[in-house]
Amino acid sequence: MGIDAGSGGKVEDLHFFYEQVKQVHGRGLWQTEGTAKKAATLPYLWKFEDFRPLLFKATEMVPIELAERRVLVMANPGITSDWQASSTMLANLQIILPGEVARSHRHSASALRLVIEGTGAYTAVNGEKSYMEPGDFVTTPNWTWHDHGNEGDSAMIWLDGLDVPLIQATETNFYEVYEAEQYPIVTPDDMSIRLFGGGALKPSWVKHNQYFSPLLNYKFTKTYETLKAMSEHTDGSPHDGISVEYANPMTGGPALATIACFASLLAPGLRTKAHRHTGGTIYHVIKGKGRSIIQGKVFHWSEKDTFVVPSWHWHEHQAESESVLFSYSDSPVITPLGLYYEEALKEDNGHQKIEGTFEALPVPERGGGVQQRRTHSK
Ligand SMILES: [Fe+2]
Ligand SMILES: [Fe+2]
Repeated sequence: MGIDAGSGGKVEDLHFFYEQVKQVHGRGLWQTEGTAKKAATLPYLWKFEDFRPLLFKATEMVPIELAERRVLVMANPGITSDWQASSTMLANLQIILPGEVARSHRHSASALRLVIEGTGAYTAVNGEKSYMEPGDFVTTPNWTWHDHGNEGDSAMIWLDGLDVPLIQATETNFYEVYEAEQYPIVTPDDMSIRLFGGGALKPSWVKHNQYFSPLLNYKFTKTYETLKAMSEHTDGSPHDGISVEYANPMTGGPALATIACFASLLAPGLRTKAHRHTGGTIYHVIKGKGRSIIQGKVFHWSEKDTFVVPSWHWHEHQAESESVLFSYSDSPVITPLGLYYEEALKEDNGHQKIEGTFEALPVPERGGGVQQRRTHSK
């Protein structure tokens, strides 16, 4: 349908003009929110003590065969969808009981695990098992077959971090279930730790031309030992304390193609200086107790809690006892595009004015109903 210029070439009524543009599925750019659109992700904190009993309740209510993965998501109340923690990432809690297997599948979304409770369960990636312990950081790179099994005698709980909202936004979301419950084991257990867990020593004969780290499990014992050794002679970053990135040992790049992951050691009483940067960050408390001040609001956290700092929000941390914060960020996506900006707070010696304390928000109305996963099959 063409646009009729109007009778006699007169200037058209503005509303009539807008309607004509609308009829061809168009819109004046000046009518849209455009660059003024505000971020939806709210700074938010989920207490583990609220979720733990619900996870165990889920083991009674929901058989693993039905759920495929027995997972409770931590939903950000600022976001319309009811299952994402930030604009680009998920933060989920998964529980698996002794003897259970979470069947093999793969997806184009990248995933990570940060182990919270229990021992004896493994994650298998492309046929290699890695047994997990609390504090371990485990990678499940995009499009790798993976299953989980619990061979121990207690429940295991871990945090799952994924980039699904980002993958959905780019319409590159693929998902496939493996034909059997478990992918065959083809590699000795923890082979990736043997090959790639040597820090600066990497195998010279192995070529690994992938976007993600070949190391499947960064053991917490080693991470903690490294952080403690560093802390003996330096205070580290003014914003993050003694902070290390879980790097791809072959390239020095991020552990996952789209997600950079970090561990930060904060000495008791230490208060970092505030900064803000682009890129959303999800934090999980591996160890300790303290508070973070996000955009002037105090968020009290303790062991096993999870919280989100949205893009371009001022934040600083203060540890009450020795603390280790795990964090993951979408910075590998925005940095190569020239979209990473960072700024340190100059006023008040780098500390924000405190304007309130975080309180849980009411659950927003989101339209309700059970939604199907929307993915491509491949
Ligand atoms: Fe998965
Ligand atoms: Fe930061």
